[in-house]
Amino acid sequence: MKARLGDMNTIGERFPADEVTEFIDLMQVYEGAMYEISTKLEILDSEFQVRFSHNPIHHMERRLKSVDSILGKLERKSLPINTRSIKDNLFDVAGIRVICNYRDDVYSVSNYLSAQSDIQVLRVKDYIKHPKQNGYRSLHVIYAVPVFLSSGAHYTPVEVQFRTIAMDYWASLEHQLRYKSNLPDAKLAEHSQTLLDCARSLQNVEAQMQSIHRDITGAPRVEEA
Ligand code: GTP
Ligand code: MG
Repeated sequence: MKARLGDMNTIGERFPADEVTEFIDLMQVYEGAMYEISTKLEILDSEFQVRFSHNPIHHMERRLKSVDSILGKLERKSLPINTRSIKDNLFDVAGIRVICNYRDDVYSVSNYLSAQSDIQVLRVKDYIKHPKQNGYRSLHVIYAVPVFLSSGAHYTPVEVQFRTIAMDYWASLEHQLRYKSNLPDAKLAEHSQTLLDCARSLQNVEAQMQSIHRDITGAPRVEEA
């Protein structure tokens, strides 16, 4: 929570003054939810290591949306600025990115997590089966996880993006091109087209490597939900 204490001035200016404490409490609940899901993922990863001598998860990244991004998103969508509005409208305050080695790993880890009885799947967007027009691929799942406080269980959403190393590699460059470059429009269009070609090439390379890996390990093809 350290970084966010520095944001208190921002909250004071743009958030209802009588809700600041409630906002801080809410952020703590989102943080708890994020840790619960990442612990579940770590447990699945170690179980795979023990059972199959294979770690499906290459690494994970976690983040809580900053106060500025939360308020900015509410403003952009012309939504009310208060804690109720955050709870009702924002499902990506807590976010985890799970970077897997292979496409089979993406589906097995997400299927096992989704099947756990104490959490709910609120929304699935499968941009792996249905890539975006720009070539973006990832599996996005929004989970609701119970965080237990003195007042009882608070089901809290966490957005999890499952992707392979290749998908992550591609998405990082595409994000840089879109948000962090000052290139002229023509150059931007040219690079976007090249990136679309790269997405297809990476998809092919990935499929070939997945197939070699399946042969080495004797693993069956994973059922995709
Ligand atoms: P917003 O959160 O309001 O954008 O809507 P949403 O939650 O319906 O969007 P979606 O699930 O499609 O995407 C959420 C997140 O996925 C974004 O914040 C990005 O991190 C990532 N993402 C989605 N599309 C792209 C893309 O085309 N390129 C890259 N690099 N990342 C993307
Ligand atoms: Mg989002």
